[in-house]
Amino acid sequence: MLKVLGISGSPRKGGNSETLLAAALEGAREAGAACETVRLNGLSYRGCQACGACLKRTGRCALRDDLDDVYRKLREADIWVLSSPIYYDTVSGQMKLFFDRLRPFVRRKLPGRRAGLIIVAYEDVRRPDYARHARVFAGYLPWFGDFRPVRVLCGERLGGPTAASRRPDLLEKARAAGRTLAGALLKRRGAAGRRR
Ligand SMILES: Cc1cc2nc3c(=O)[nH]c(=O)nc-3n(C[C@H](O)[C@H](O)[C@H](O)COP(=O)(O)O)c2cc1C
Repeated sequence: MLKVLGISGSPRKGGNSETLLAAALEGAREAGAACETVRLNGLSYRGCQACGACLKRTGRCALRDDLDDVYRKLREADIWVLSSPIYYDTVSGQMKLFFDRLRPFVRRKLPGRRAGLIIVAYEDVRRPDYARHARVFAGYLPWFGDFRPVRVLCGERLGGPTAASRRPDLLEKARAAGRTLAGALLKRRGAAGRRR
Protein backbone atom coordinates (compact mmCIF):
# COMPACT_ATOMS: atom_id res chain seq x y z
CA MET A 1 0.00 0.00 0.00
CA LEU A 2 1.12 3.52 -0.75
CA LYS A 3 2.41 5.24 2.40
CA VAL A 4 2.27 8.95 3.11
CA LEU A 5 4.24 10.54 5.92
CA GLY A 6 3.26 13.98 7.17
CA ILE A 7 5.88 15.96 9.08
CA SER A 8 4.53 18.85 11.12
CA GLY A 9 6.94 21.64 12.06
CA SER A 10 4.46 23.63 14.14
CA PRO A 11 4.25 23.72 17.93
CA ARG A 12 0.50 24.40 17.62
CA LYS A 13 -1.50 21.18 17.69
CA GLY A 14 -4.22 21.49 15.06
CA GLY A 15 -2.98 24.94 14.00
CA ASN A 16 -2.99 26.24 10.46
CA SER A 17 -0.12 24.32 8.88
CA GLU A 18 -1.34 21.12 10.58
CA THR A 19 -4.89 21.72 9.34
CA LEU A 20 -3.61 22.01 5.77
CA LEU A 21 -1.39 18.96 6.31
CA ALA A 22 -4.39 16.97 7.59
CA ALA A 23 -6.41 18.01 4.52
CA ALA A 24 -3.60 16.88 2.18
CA LEU A 25 -3.46 13.52 3.97
CA GLU A 26 -7.23 13.22 3.75
CA GLY A 27 -6.95 13.65 -0.03
CA ALA A 28 -4.21 11.00 -0.21
CA ARG A 29 -6.35 8.65 1.88
CA GLU A 30 -9.25 9.16 -0.54
CA ALA A 31 -6.89 7.99 -3.31
CA GLY A 32 -6.13 4.83 -1.32
CA ALA A 33 -2.98 5.68 0.65
CA ALA A 34 -2.16 4.91 4.29
CA CYS A 35 -1.17 8.09 6.14
CA GLU A 36 0.70 8.95 9.31
CA THR A 37 1.84 12.24 10.86
CA VAL A 38 4.91 12.97 12.97
CA ARG A 39 4.87 16.14 15.09
CA LEU A 40 8.44 17.37 15.36
CA ASN A 41 7.65 19.57 18.35
CA GLY A 42 7.07 16.50 20.53
CA LEU A 43 10.48 15.02 19.67
CA SER A 44 13.89 15.54 21.16
CA TYR A 45 16.61 16.02 18.53
CA ARG A 46 19.57 18.21 17.66
CA GLY A 47 20.59 19.95 14.51
CA CYS A 48 23.13 18.55 12.06
CA GLN A 49 26.61 18.53 13.63
CA ALA A 50 28.39 18.68 10.24
CA CYS A 51 30.55 15.75 11.40
CA GLY A 52 30.53 14.38 7.86
CA ALA A 53 30.01 10.78 9.02
CA CYS A 54 26.93 10.33 6.86
CA LEU A 55 28.61 11.75 3.76
CA LYS A 56 32.06 10.22 4.10
CA ARG A 57 31.44 6.91 5.74
CA THR A 58 28.19 5.38 6.88
CA GLY A 59 25.37 7.03 4.96
CA ARG A 60 23.70 7.23 8.39
CA CYS A 61 23.43 10.06 10.88
CA ALA A 62 25.86 9.71 13.79
CA LEU A 63 23.40 11.29 16.24
CA ARG A 64 21.16 8.92 18.21
CA ASP A 65 17.93 10.64 19.17
CA ASP A 66 14.20 10.72 18.42
CA LEU A 67 14.84 11.20 14.69
CA ASP A 68 16.09 7.57 14.50
CA ASP A 69 12.52 6.38 14.22
CA VAL A 70 11.61 9.20 11.83
CA TYR A 71 14.43 8.17 9.45
CA ARG A 72 12.85 4.72 9.30
CA LYS A 73 9.42 6.18 8.54
CA LEU A 74 10.89 8.48 5.88
CA ARG A 75 12.55 5.51 4.16
CA GLU A 76 9.25 3.62 4.14
CA ALA A 77 7.10 6.53 2.93
CA ASP A 78 6.28 7.00 -0.75
CA ILE A 79 5.12 10.58 -0.26
CA TRP A 80 6.58 13.14 2.13
CA VAL A 81 4.37 16.04 3.16
CA LEU A 82 6.32 18.64 5.13
CA SER A 83 4.33 21.46 6.71
CA SER A 84 5.52 24.46 8.67
CA PRO A 85 4.44 27.88 9.85
CA ILE A 86 6.53 30.83 8.65
CA TYR A 87 8.53 32.34 11.50
CA TYR A 88 10.47 35.51 10.72
CA ASP A 89 10.35 34.91 7.00
CA THR A 90 11.43 31.28 7.08
CA VAL A 91 10.24 27.89 8.29
CA SER A 92 10.04 27.11 12.01
CA GLY A 93 13.19 26.11 13.89
CA GLN A 94 11.71 22.65 14.39
CA MET A 95 11.41 22.18 10.62
CA LYS A 96 14.82 23.67 9.81
CA LEU A 97 16.66 21.41 12.30
CA PHE A 98 14.79 18.41 10.90
CA PHE A 99 15.54 19.35 7.29
CA ASP A 100 19.26 19.78 8.01
CA ARG A 101 19.26 16.24 9.41
CA LEU A 102 18.18 14.83 6.02
CA ARG A 103 21.80 14.99 4.82
CA PRO A 104 22.33 11.20 5.12
CA PHE A 105 19.99 10.81 2.14
CA VAL A 106 22.35 12.91 0.01
CA ARG A 107 24.97 10.18 0.39
CA ARG A 108 22.63 7.19 0.32
CA LYS A 109 19.76 8.14 -1.95
CA LEU A 110 16.37 6.63 -1.25
CA PRO A 111 15.47 3.87 -3.69
CA GLY A 112 12.35 4.06 -5.86
CA ARG A 113 10.14 6.86 -7.04
CA ARG A 114 8.52 9.21 -4.52
CA ALA A 115 6.53 12.42 -4.41
CA GLY A 116 6.61 15.41 -2.08
CA LEU A 117 4.52 18.32 -0.88
CA ILE A 118 5.79 21.35 1.02
CA ILE A 119 3.17 23.37 2.92
CA VAL A 120 3.78 26.74 4.57
CA ALA A 121 1.24 28.78 6.55
CA TYR A 122 1.65 32.44 7.44
CA GLU A 123 -0.20 35.51 8.66
CA ASP A 124 0.81 38.13 6.11
CA VAL A 125 -1.00 38.80 2.83
CA ARG A 126 0.41 37.02 -0.21
CA ARG A 127 4.20 36.86 -0.02
CA PRO A 128 5.93 35.60 -3.16
CA ASP A 129 9.19 35.41 -1.19
CA TYR A 130 7.60 32.83 1.17
CA ALA A 131 6.45 30.79 -1.81
CA ARG A 132 9.99 30.97 -3.16
CA HIS A 133 11.25 29.83 0.21
CA ALA A 134 8.95 26.80 0.14
CA ARG A 135 10.16 26.06 -3.39
CA VAL A 136 13.76 26.07 -2.15
CA PHE A 137 12.85 23.25 0.27
CA ALA A 138 10.98 21.47 -2.50
CA GLY A 139 14.05 21.81 -4.71
CA TYR A 140 16.16 19.88 -2.23
CA LEU A 141 13.96 16.76 -2.15
CA PRO A 142 15.45 15.44 -5.43
CA TRP A 143 18.84 15.47 -3.66
CA PHE A 144 17.47 12.73 -1.39
CA GLY A 145 15.91 10.47 -4.00
CA ASP A 146 13.79 10.36 -7.12
CA PHE A 147 11.11 12.79 -5.95
CA ARG A 148 8.80 13.53 -8.88
CA PRO A 149 6.58 15.46 -8.66
CA VAL A 150 7.11 17.85 -5.76
CA ARG A 151 4.41 20.44 -5.12
CA VAL A 152 4.20 23.54 -2.94
CA LEU A 153 1.16 24.93 -1.12
CA CYS A 154 1.17 28.35 0.56
CA GLY A 155 -1.54 29.40 3.00
CA GLU A 156 -1.58 33.19 3.37
CA ARG A 157 -3.61 35.37 5.78
CA LEU A 158 -3.60 32.64 8.44
CA GLY A 159 -3.01 34.32 11.78
CA GLY A 160 -5.07 32.77 14.60
CA PRO A 161 -4.76 29.02 15.15
CA THR A 162 -8.14 28.18 13.60
CA ALA A 163 -7.87 30.45 10.53
CA ALA A 164 -7.12 27.60 8.09
CA SER A 165 -10.18 25.63 9.18
CA ARG A 166 -12.30 28.54 7.90
CA ARG A 167 -10.63 28.61 4.48
CA PRO A 168 -12.41 26.12 2.22
CA ASP A 169 -10.33 27.34 -0.75
CA LEU A 170 -7.06 26.32 0.90
CA LEU A 171 -8.47 23.13 2.40
CA GLU A 172 -9.65 22.02 -1.03
CA LYS A 173 -6.27 22.89 -2.59
CA ALA A 174 -4.51 20.80 0.07
CA ARG A 175 -6.92 17.88 -0.35
CA ALA A 176 -6.53 18.02 -4.13
CA ALA A 177 -2.72 18.10 -3.84
CA GLY A 178 -2.70 14.99 -1.61
CA ARG A 179 -5.20 13.19 -3.83
CA THR A 180 -3.31 14.04 -7.03
CA LEU A 181 0.13 13.05 -5.73
CA ALA A 182 -1.11 9.74 -4.32
CA GLY A 183 -3.17 9.06 -7.45
CA ALA A 184 -0.17 9.75 -9.71
CA LEU A 185 2.11 7.38 -7.80
CA LEU A 186 -0.52 4.65 -7.66
CA LYS A 187 -1.17 4.98 -11.39
CA ARG A 188 2.55 4.76 -12.17
CA ARG A 189 2.83 1.67 -9.99
CA GLY A 190 -0.10 0.06 -11.74
CA ALA A 191 1.52 0.74 -15.11
CA ALA A 192 4.89 -0.63 -13.91
CA GLY A 193 3.16 -3.74 -12.53
CA ARG A 194 1.43 -4.38 -15.85
CA ARG A 195 4.76 -4.06 -17.73
CA ARG A 196 6.41 -6.75 -15.56
C1 LIG B 1 7.77 33.44 16.30
C2 LIG B 1 6.78 33.77 15.22
C3 LIG B 1 7.21 34.42 14.07
C4 LIG B 1 6.30 34.67 13.02
N1 LIG B 1 6.77 35.29 11.90
C5 LIG B 1 5.93 35.50 10.85
C6 LIG B 1 6.40 36.10 9.65
O1 LIG B 1 7.57 36.41 9.50
N2 LIG B 1 5.49 36.30 8.64
C7 LIG B 1 4.17 35.96 8.76
O2 LIG B 1 3.40 36.19 7.83
N3 LIG B 1 3.70 35.37 9.88
C8 LIG B 1 4.55 35.13 10.92
N4 LIG B 1 4.08 34.51 12.07
C9 LIG B 1 2.67 34.06 12.13
C10 LIG B 1 2.53 32.57 11.77
O3 LIG B 1 3.24 32.24 10.59
C11 LIG B 1 1.04 32.22 11.55
O4 LIG B 1 0.31 32.46 12.71
C12 LIG B 1 0.87 30.77 11.11
O5 LIG B 1 -0.44 30.58 10.66
C13 LIG B 1 1.15 29.81 12.23
O6 LIG B 1 0.97 28.49 11.76
P1 LIG B 1 0.57 27.29 12.75
O7 LIG B 1 -0.82 27.60 13.28
O8 LIG B 1 0.61 26.08 11.91
O9 LIG B 1 1.60 27.26 13.83
C14 LIG B 1 4.95 34.27 13.14
C15 LIG B 1 4.52 33.62 14.32
C16 LIG B 1 5.42 33.38 15.35
C17 LIG B 1 4.95 32.64 16.59
